[in-house]
Amino acid sequence: MQLDKCLLEKRGCKDYLSRKIPLDILGEILEAGTCAPSAGNLQNWSFVVVDDEEKKEALSLACLNQNWMNKAPIHIVICNDIKKITDVYPTRGRLYATQACSIAAQNIMLKAADVGLHTCWVGAFNEEGVRRVLTIPEDIIPEMVITLGYSDAPYKELIRDPCETVTFFNTYGKREKGDEGMFPLDKHGKDFGKSIHSLAERQHQSGGFFKKLFKKR
Ligand SMILES: Cc1cc2nc3c(=O)[nH]c(=O)nc-3n(C[C@H](O)[C@H](O)[C@H](O)COP(=O)(O)O)c2cc1C
Repeated sequence: MQLDKCLLEKRGCKDYLSRKIPLDILGEILEAGTCAPSAGNLQNWSFVVVDDEEKKEALSLACLNQNWMNKAPIHIVICNDIKKITDVYPTRGRLYATQACSIAAQNIMLKAADVGLHTCWVGAFNEEGVRRVLTIPEDIIPEMVITLGYSDAPYKELIRDPCETVTFFNTYGKREKGDEGMFPLDKHGKDFGKSIHSLAERQHQSGGFFKKLFKKR
């Protein structure tokens, strides 16, 4: 699948088929995780792949009872060996370590979309609970859980604020270049983003708060 398609069609999925994920496909997805950059290339991540039904159930409980997770054939818990980073970067290391794990997680989700699988990022969990289920050592932090599986759930609209509202030039809050001609991209003949239906745009259509931002559209 092309990157554009992955970006535009990838959605948090909570409805999975029981179809098994072939090991080689799972391997490719995990390899994509390891392509992520990390501070000093210290690669502070590890991935715990969970396909045991009882453990998945216990994990979903630790994830504040998110029962929908049980339908996903696989959970991937991304763990952070934070000391690898903080030993080298004592001041900013904690942040770097989480950032690197987040990029690995996004790589995993994009590669999954590329090979026709669906995912959801799960960040709401009891850390000690997750640690207990997977016997994760004290010095390793479970950062996020990614559910993974096939799905035939219908396409969901992508709801995002328009890029021009979150892009500034040279000074925080300055939107000039965006306003002067960069956005919307379709006026340059670019298709990308055409299908992003933002909440703000819909609010505009109903005369809401974001009206001013869309006056040029
Ligand atoms: C840091 C983070 C934590 C999240 N935690 C959860 C979660 O615990 N449970 C859940 O169902 N979705 C979770 N999500 C998924 C978001 O709810 C979802 O990405 C967002 O609503 C946008 O929906 P979309 O990805 O389908 O466009 C999380 C996403 C992120 C990035």
